[in-house]
Amino acid sequence: MGKEFSIVPREVPPVESKYRRIRTPLPHPDSVSTLARLRQFEPQSMRGQPPLVWDRAEDIFVYDKYGNRWLDWSSGVLVTNAGHADPDVCQAIVDQVNSRLLHNYCFPSEERAALAECLAGLAPDGLKKVFLLTTGSEATECAIKLARAHGIRTGGNGKIGIVSFERGFHGRTLGAQQAGGMQGQKNWIVNLDPAFINVPFPDGYWQEDTRFETLLDRIRAQGFESSNIAGVLMETYQGVGPDFAPVEYVHKMAEWCKQHGIVLIFDEVQAGFGRTGKFWAFEHYGVTPDLICCGKGISSSLPLSAVLGRESIMDLFGPGSMTSTHTGNPVCCAAALASVRKIVGRNLTANAAALEPVLIEGLKAIQSRHPTVVGRVTAKGLVGGLQTVKPGTKEPDHDLAQSIIERCFHKGLLFFAPVGAWGQTVKIAPPLTIPRDALEEGLEVLSEATDEAVAAVHDQTLVTIP
Ligand SMILES: Cc1ncc(COP(=O)(O)O)c(C=O)c1O
Repeated sequence: MGKEFSIVPREVPPVESKYRRIRTPLPHPDSVSTLARLRQFEPQSMRGQPPLVWDRAEDIFVYDKYGNRWLDWSSGVLVTNAGHADPDVCQAIVDQVNSRLLHNYCFPSEERAALAECLAGLAPDGLKKVFLLTTGSEATECAIKLARAHGIRTGGNGKIGIVSFERGFHGRTLGAQQAGGMQGQKNWIVNLDPAFINVPFPDGYWQEDTRFETLLDRIRAQGFESSNIAGVLMETYQGVGPDFAPVEYVHKMAEWCKQHGIVLIFDEVQAGFGRTGKFWAFEHYGVTPDLICCGKGISSSLPLSAVLGRESIMDLFGPGSMTSTHTGNPVCCAAALASVRKIVGRNLTANAAALEPVLIEGLKAIQSRHPTVVGRVTAKGLVGGLQTVKPGTKEPDHDLAQSIIERCFHKGLLFFAPVGAWGQTVKIAPPLTIPRDALEEGLEVLSEATDEAVAAVHDQTLVTIP
């Protein structure tokens, strides 16, 4: 279980810079009653983020009510690609509300038609059907269902295997969590479906063997042949890093899928919509999937997700039999359309690509000062990660990542809580609107916080040695 940040107000040094302003104790004493009410009325699973009661968020900033302003490197949770409360997105939402169409189930609407057409236009050739949903988990569940239905249609009941990756994440619902690769998160399921097969993710660090043949070995070891596999579900990059698979591995995998009629699914819920410096992150591999799962950055705001795919797969279910109550809610569609237009129109994808070298160099500079405890740094576009380990080992160090994030919070740089299978990653994901000097300012803060956190651990070690 992840750690919690203290909600006891603490005096912190004031900060006044171009992008940050901290002028009160943190959390602000007046916000503690809200934090306490949340602790009283919500399940404890909802705790764990830095204790900042958000008042408003605009572009690259998050504000509380008390005059403090954070430079946001969370984008919520990689949602606000076009910036928080982008004026065009806000206007689209307001206009839609004023039109008095807030809900229309699966009845036709212009809003759904416009967004479906827009997304189909952005998808690779051959992926021209769009099914709108609400959450990322719904999108991955739907893709799993489509892949299995396709497998049964083409190969009978023996072709239902879903291959996915160790340490992967696809959501917290039953199918998504079975496909996910965090063993500890699946204990509640007990009777796991044996047709979900986790194989090692070839990141080259935690998993040093990056050969594609390892995937084949693993599925055979679980009693499956290629002909039994219905689909492969892969996060385009694993969120823990971001960690990409080797291009060669993915090429071989795509070839294998084609050869055996296996549906290739990229989970772009986190990776899509410009985040990695390409509109779709799978473009880095130079392959085209059969299905794409989208969410998060699709709207930069309201809950919306989508599955995009080939007609032959997307049309497997007849009229009325693959729907959802909030399928393509018109307000969410209006927000998503405005957000996608902003990402494309302002070429935010190019901004992410242009800033990648700044991000990776900044992270490498931090690692070079602390090579024994910053085990791995990675970045693609405007998503990056700094993974902490116990000195000189590959043993993940959650406490160090937590301490770095808390120190940044006190300095006006906002991250969400550490992520990764062992909570070892400080994840960097600012809105794609961030200018270069704000990225540089944030890197300086992260660097300072890492120095302090490492020094604090070192001091403690000195104190405890007799
Ligand atoms: C890669 C990936 N897939 C699926 C999901 C699940 O999305 P949601 O939380 O909207 O259900 C997430 C959420 O973090 C994700 O990162």
